[in-house]
Amino acid sequence: MTNRTAFITGASRGIGRACALALAEAGYRVAVAARNAKLLDELAAEIRAAGHEAYAVTINMADAASIKETFAKTAKEFGPVSILVNNAGITRDGLALRMKKEDWDEVIGTNLTGSFLAIQQVLQHMLRDRWGRIINISSVVGEMGNPGQANYVASKAGIIGLTKAIAQEMGSRNITVNAVAPGFIETDMTQGLSQELKDNMIGHVALKRIGRAEDVAAAVRFLASEEAGYITGHVLNVNGGLYM
Ligand code: NAI
Repeated sequence: MTNRTAFITGASRGIGRACALALAEAGYRVAVAARNAKLLDELAAEIRAAGHEAYAVTINMADAASIKETFAKTAKEFGPVSILVNNAGITRDGLALRMKKEDWDEVIGTNLTGSFLAIQQVLQHMLRDRWGRIINISSVVGEMGNPGQANYVASKAGIIGLTKAIAQEMGSRNITVNAVAPGFIETDMTQGLSQELKDNMIGHVALKRIGRAEDVAAAVRFLASEEAGYITGHVLNVNGGLYM
């Protein structure tokens, strides 16, 4: 069944955008959400031009009220969500010793609490429908740790725990919940890193190259598919062999 609706957070650019394009290409109707309305409108237009259905909607994943309102609006105007891709994420890096509580709260709030609240918004329909796919974007650093990113690492490790807990709660209702853990992917998030740091990272990647947003989107598309119906509570690494 391909006319199901997927909702992708943080879809305005990077990995989220690639996920939206891949899911649209696979035949799903896609709701694209982020904060930047202009970029979302452009993406939705691109998807429609390719002959698929798209709906652009703004959301602030750091704000519980915005999450609730946006999912209600989407259900009313575009239809209920059967596939949720929790992709929106931010970093506020710094050594733990000097990390400000605001930076801790903002990252945990957006990445982890935001993902949880989005899951709460889609469960009711999935339960009724006895079908659902929840795909949470974690990170290789959620598995390995990383100095200077205590807040981000905690949020991404938290996403893995969240994935496994909800997978167990929802398994009997045919709702699968999985995480995708990307490694080092070329997007705005990693653009600011120095060439020296990038070269050093690539040195640790078995495939000796930086990943593309499309590499991550392909894994998300698979986990959303009918064929992935017996996979739940899994963390799928898309890291080129950076961590095994
Ligand atoms: P990006 O910075 O290019 O895009 C992030 C997206 O999230 C944007 O669409 C942005 O608008 C949205 N976003 C941020 N805060 C938001 C908020 N409060 N409300 C709504 N939307 C918000 O980042 P990228 O690289 O595409 O990352 C996507 C996901 O993949 C993130 O969760 C990130 O942590 C994760 N990831 C990225 C890796 C990389 O190397 N680029 C590696 C591992 C994980």
